[in-house]
Amino acid sequence: MIGVFDSGHGGLTVLRALIGRLPRRDFVYLGDHAHAPYGERSAEDVYRLTVENIERLFRMDCRLVVLACNTAAAVALRRLQRTWLDTAWPGRRVLGVLVPVVEEITRQPWHEEAPRGGPGAPSETVAVFATLRTVTSRAYVGEIDKRAPEVRVFQQACPGLVDAIEDGAAEADIRALVDGFVATLLDHMGGVAPDIAVLGCTHYELIAGMFRAALPARTQLLHQPGLVADALEDYLRRHPEFAAAPDEAGRVRFLTTGAAAAVSRIGGRFYGSAVDFQPVN
Ligand code: DGL
Repeated sequence: MIGVFDSGHGGLTVLRALIGRLPRRDFVYLGDHAHAPYGERSAEDVYRLTVENIERLFRMDCRLVVLACNTAAAVALRRLQRTWLDTAWPGRRVLGVLVPVVEEITRQPWHEEAPRGGPGAPSETVAVFATLRTVTSRAYVGEIDKRAPEVRVFQQACPGLVDAIEDGAAEADIRALVDGFVATLLDHMGGVAPDIAVLGCTHYELIAGMFRAALPARTQLLHQPGLVADALEDYLRRHPEFAAAPDEAGRVRFLTTGAAAAVSRIGGRFYGSAVDFQPVN
């Protein structure tokens, strides 16, 4: 069974892509709706909540967890992998959502940190829309810069957007927020259209159409869930120790730390079909 964790509904976009790619695997989705949004919390808070919820999934016997939250991945993943995971839960793995996006932009595998340089090296301009905490972590900027220093990354924090999505705000209100954030970023870039835009928060993929409409036509919008699904498929091919258990049959469970009925109602709207969240114990 594979665990998928996000602060709230955003990770459903990743889950949907993972199920599409690995339909026979069992998944358990955990949303920490009681503490969302993470993007406006302190780094220490995000770390503590992330570890707590990953442990919940490990205790349910998920040996592999996908951290389907950019904020948690940007702030907590490296730290928990270095200081906690191997001693507390040897043999378990946590994979994040930044790596596949950085690999796509830099066109080089994650572990090759040295810049490739020379003709053909990536030199695009990239716009990253993310939560305040992800932006201040500078994780996207730093990881891209190490591998592709010619790429120019412009970041735009989108405070309030996750809340509007989680609360099921009216479409027109969400659209106005998106239009405002895109306009601010374009202004910051001196009116030049970015070559690539990244929705660096899994919640934003739920409203990717609004970002598409607000961005210049020539900007390529990357879709993180598809990139994460490709990366997981590749990881599983290289790590047979995480192969499906014999009794896995494509089952999906939805768990929340929040109020299950309300979470299910909003989740269904975004997931595209009904989701029945149960309270986590
Ligand atoms: N969806 C998450 C992310 O990718 C977290 C958003 C939040 O809780 O602020 O950043």
